[in-house]
This record gives sequence, C-alpha cells and structure tokens, in this order.
Amino acid sequence: MNAATTPVGHREDAVSVDTGLDVVTGAFSYSGKAIAKALLGSGRQVRTITGHPGRAPEGSPIEARPLEFDNPVGLAESLAGATTLYNTYWVRFARDRTDHDLAVANSRALFHAARRAGIRRIVHVSITHPGIDSPFPYFRGKALVERALAEVDVPYAIVRPAILFGGDGVLLNNIAWLLRHLPVFAVGGRGGYGVRPIHVDDLARLCVARGAERHDSVTDAVGPERPTFIELVRDIRDAVGSRARIVCVPGSALPMFARLVGTALRDVLLTADEYRAMAAGLADTHGRPTAPTALSGWITQHASELGLHYANELDRHYRQSPPSPPVGVAPDRSLPAGGVEGRT
Ligand SMILES: NC(=O)c1ccc[n+]([C@@H]2O[C@H](COP(=O)([O-])OP(=O)(O)OC[C@H]3O[C@@H](n4cnc5c(N)ncnc54)[C@H](OP(=O)(O)O)[C@@H]3O)[C@@H](O)[C@H]2O)c1
Repeated sequence: MNAATTPVGHREDAVSVDTGLDVVTGAFSYSGKAIAKALLGSGRQVRTITGHPGRAPEGSPIEARPLEFDNPVGLAESLAGATTLYNTYWVRFARDRTDHDLAVANSRALFHAARRAGIRRIVHVSITHPGIDSPFPYFRGKALVERALAEVDVPYAIVRPAILFGGDGVLLNNIAWLLRHLPVFAVGGRGGYGVRPIHVDDLARLCVARGAERHDSVTDAVGPERPTFIELVRDIRDAVGSRARIVCVPGSALPMFARLVGTALRDVLLTADEYRAMAAGLADTHGRPTAPTALSGWITQHASELGLHYANELDRHYRQSPPSPPVGVAPDRSLPAGGVEGRT
C-alpha cells in the first residue's frame, strides 16, 4: 500500500463499531506480550507495532508492523482498523540517541497517529507516582506522556504499575541471578523502602478490563504485598537457596556497585536514578491492591527456575536477538536464553 495516499481517518471517523482487532505495542517483549496473550485468549485479534518485528515467532497469530515514529502516516496506517491501542512503549534509561525526552515526543506522536487512525480507546501503561516536577527524568517524562494522552481527545485508561514480576521479567530474575552467583549482595541504605509489585499477567488482565470500559480512568496497578526492598532480597535469597551475604552500603555508593557489576555483565543493572527513585518510595503505594497474585507465593513457586539465566536489558533493546517463542509457549530450555521466557 502506498503510504503517501493512504487515508487514515480523523477523530470524527473513529471506528464506531468494535472491529475485533486491537493493537499492542511490543507484543514480543515483556508486558506487551502478556497483554497480547490476554487479548488473544479473550478472542480478540492482535496486531503489534514493535521495534523488533523480526522477533515474531514462527506461526504467530500476531501481525507485526514496525514502530516507526518518524513516519506518522505509516504509524497511523499500522493503527488503522483497530479498536483499542494498548501502549507499553517507553525507554528505561537514556542510551545512545534515545532518552526520555525522545520517548515523550514519540509517545505523543503515537497518540496523535492513533487519533488520526480512528482508534476508539487507548489503554496506556504508565508508572506509579509520575510527576511533572519530579527530579527523575523517567517519572517526569511519564507525567508528560499522561498529559499528552489526556490532551489527544481519545478516551483513555491509564494503568500505573510500580514493579512487574512473572513472565520473563528482568528485575526479580536478576536479583536471584546475582544471589546465586555472587557471595555478597549490596543493598543501598538500610533497604527499608517499600516495593509494590504486580504480576505481569494481572497487569495484562487489568489492561484488558480497562480496554472494555468507556470512561477515562487512572488506576494504580499494584499487587497485595508491599515488602521492603531488603525483605524482598531476603525472600529471594532464601527461596533460591543462596548463601550470599546481604550487606547494606551507603545509598551514595550503591550506583557505583551496580555500575561495576553491570559493566562486567555488559548490561545496565540499575541506574543511579532508578535506585534513588526506589529509595524515595516511588515503587510503593498505599492504596488497596488492584491485582490478586501475591509476590511471596510466586517466588516460592518459581524458586527452582528464578535467576538461572541472566536477563540482559541491553540484549533485549539494543542488540540483535533471535525470535522469541510463540506467545504462551515455553521455550526450549536447552538454549542459553537471555531470560526465563514462558514462566508465569
Ligand atoms: N518492567 C517493569 O518492572 C515496569 C515497572 C513499572 C512500569 N513499567 C512500565 O510498563 C511499560 C512497559 O514496560 P516493559 O518492561 O513491559 O517494557 P518492554 O516490553 O521492554 O518494552 C515496551 C515497549 O517499548 C519499546 N522499547 C523499550 N525500550 C526501548 C528502547 N530503548 N528503544 C526503543 N523502544 C523501546 C519496546 O520495543 P520492542 O517492541 O522493540 O521490544 C516495546 O514496544 C513501560 O511504560 C514502563 O514504564 C514497567
């Protein structure tokens, strides 16, 4: 199809009937994969827009299109015909020419393309405690994206998780990997800051439920448990049978430790901002849970596989990698996987 001549519609042309098709960003990555699986399970058709269309597993029912922010017409074409956009797009940290300012601009471009394509509703995955005045570019950027969404004139639901677990998540898996492989695990400060994780499949179900609603909404996506960070590390250590010593180091020194280990692993383990934001309580909330899966039970249930393989963030987003296994299908564990695909 010739992009230059393709009509993509305007807001007044928003699809008036449910087409049965939804678009999910990143359906071969982390939360997007869980959302796509939940949608397919409920009988929806799914198209994805992704920076890695080549990662489409063989035989996948998901149509893959490129996430091309610098081609607004192509972006709108990729959204055309869909009822709801489930947006997980974001960048974790600044690297090369990609930073949070660019991610805000790209998100805005995506919302405008969705409006022009006639998308009826946008379900947007954000973060707990976004803030226009936040000292952290991640949280400030997230607030700017939420504002852009509210201004774009498409009905929306914002879903705000703090930390995700389950599936092939990075954070808990890599804490377990470090505890399995190193004699010492450094915690910044006293580790008394809380975290409020949600299982990625609970997040996906919440997103799909919000997709079926009509009104604008903002929901913290949080599970029932709120351990402190040091309690979380102890739980994982005990579950995986690690004998690593957990040592508290000054918060100002923690980013340096994380940088050293990250360099050895050819990855970014934890940025200084990520640590500071967590230590400032931004990964915790006080409200009632909006998801059922208890983290502690999940850790116990998955102890034998948690942290067996290191999950490398830079491999996922900045280096080439082979296609992922089909949505919902366990991988061949004989392969040296960069994570723990298929685990729920
Ligand atoms: N993971 C967590 O623990 C956590 C916690 C709180 C909030 N969140 C929020 O949840 C949302 C989804 O997070 P996720 O962990 O599920 O992300 P993800 O699957 O790793 O990535 C989500 C989407 O963003 C794209 N993306 C990620 N990094 C990129 C980069 N550096 N350059 C270009 N595109 C990039 C991915 O592209 P590809 O399709 O090419 O992979 C994918 O389409 C984000 O808004 C995040 O802020 C996540």
